[in-house]
Amino acid sequence: MVELAPFQTPRPAEYAPIPKPLKKRDLKGLKIPDGPRSAFLTLRFQRDTPAFLLDARDRYGDCSSFLLGGQLFITAFSPEMVHEVTVSKQSSFIKGVGFDRMRKVLGSGLLTNEEPIHLRHRRLMQSPFHISKISSYAQTMLSLTRKHISNWKDGQVVALGPEMMSLTFDIVADILFGTDISADTKRVQDSMHIAIDRIERTMLPGLDRLDNLPIAYFRKFEKAANELHEVATRIVNERIASGIMRDDLMGVLLEAQTVEGERLTPREISDETLTLILSGHETTANVLTWTFAYLSQNPRYWDGLAEEAEAVFAKENDEDFAKALLSAPLSGAIFSEVLRLAPPVWVSPRRALEDITLGGKDIPKGAHVLLSQYVTQRDEKYFSSANEFIPERWSGEFEKSLPRGAYFPFLAGSRKCLGDQFALLEGRIIILEMARGARLSLTGEFPKAQPRATYRPKGAVAMKVELI
Ligand code: HEM
Repeated sequence: MVELAPFQTPRPAEYAPIPKPLKKRDLKGLKIPDGPRSAFLTLRFQRDTPAFLLDARDRYGDCSSFLLGGQLFITAFSPEMVHEVTVSKQSSFIKGVGFDRMRKVLGSGLLTNEEPIHLRHRRLMQSPFHISKISSYAQTMLSLTRKHISNWKDGQVVALGPEMMSLTFDIVADILFGTDISADTKRVQDSMHIAIDRIERTMLPGLDRLDNLPIAYFRKFEKAANELHEVATRIVNERIASGIMRDDLMGVLLEAQTVEGERLTPREISDETLTLILSGHETTANVLTWTFAYLSQNPRYWDGLAEEAEAVFAKENDEDFAKALLSAPLSGAIFSEVLRLAPPVWVSPRRALEDITLGGKDIPKGAHVLLSQYVTQRDEKYFSSANEFIPERWSGEFEKSLPRGAYFPFLAGSRKCLGDQFALLEGRIIILEMARGARLSLTGEFPKAQPRATYRPKGAVAMKVELI
């Protein structure tokens, strides 16, 4: 039997069935929260989703409802609701809009898989992300960063967005898969750009029915998805053919066995590979690009960062280098603040599998439930001057003082980001290494956001490099 590419593969039968969506006619007699009902709502939602969600929160509070594509959506913005959806009541939800389309690109990997497959794979893939293992990646992250920025010249204008993408791409490929896929960087990036754009732009429910139409927009989506699948399959096949045994992620995936002795199939390994490549570089690259844009606007932080870099990199060859990095206060505060203001994963859509209450409010089975890191993390109740860039707020015990669910750039519960420590380490290394050798300044305006599957800065973000 010919194996279908992810784009054409149906939803795995082992997943919980998707509950019927709730349409207007189903809402009679249901107690649903108030919310926006304008005739142009879909247009407003599509034009600027973060602004739409913030406006809904300001007018109707943390829990509001609206109909999108004719289906009921409910927002869950309070920390209490976030904690319930992600942790204490997580088994009552499956992933929502966008994820079925994401599965067309990534296949069934950790990000898109539902239970029971998700937990089975997550257990198998945990070890390369354990903090003790992550620490051993610090030197490689640093040397790849040095290699990358050593090509920059004083006075040069760099396209920072693509630069950060290729750096984080090389890091994830080298560390997790032991592969130099730099020859594929451009191809993967172009395909990823199209795929991520198409996943989110047509996130309205029901629009995935159009994916097979003979229209260039959708055919490009399929082509991009197929290219990515091809690259991932090749990486896996080359590693199998090489016979090289390494204890990196690819080694773990190839060797992994469940207690029943079940192994991952080559296709599952390829889907997990692609998932890790995508989730492991695009997110971190975006947050770093935003970080340098904020630093360009707030250059007073550069000197403190350079001092911190000197102190931390003095331990470069010590065993506790990663520990020193992860406890470096200024780069940590800056990274946390950018993750708050420009969270790469800015919305986490879910679907209620049963009637349930969130924050004391009734949520009917089948409703789409929207969490938004972007909205909750800009709530004045928890973050004063919430729209301002104030890294100092992260000093002392501030993070511990926040209620659970108020700050969740990596989510929480069993769907929490697998690579959070990886990203925190990598982010600090890149910020500090940059501060040690260069100053970056925007050549134009502060970038606008282009929120898609990730919260991207729009355009290439041109920055002038001043070497010091
Ligand atoms: C700053 C960078 C990053 C941020 C903000 C971030 C954020 C997130 C969030 C919010 C989720 C949950 C999405 C949802 O369920 O709605 C997630 C999942 C995931 N992330 Fe990350 N991520 C980052 C970097 C990374 C890196 C570097 C890796 C791997 C090297 C990674 C691997 C994953 C994986 C595998 C999942 C799926 C986990 C599961 O469902 O079991 N991420 N990430």
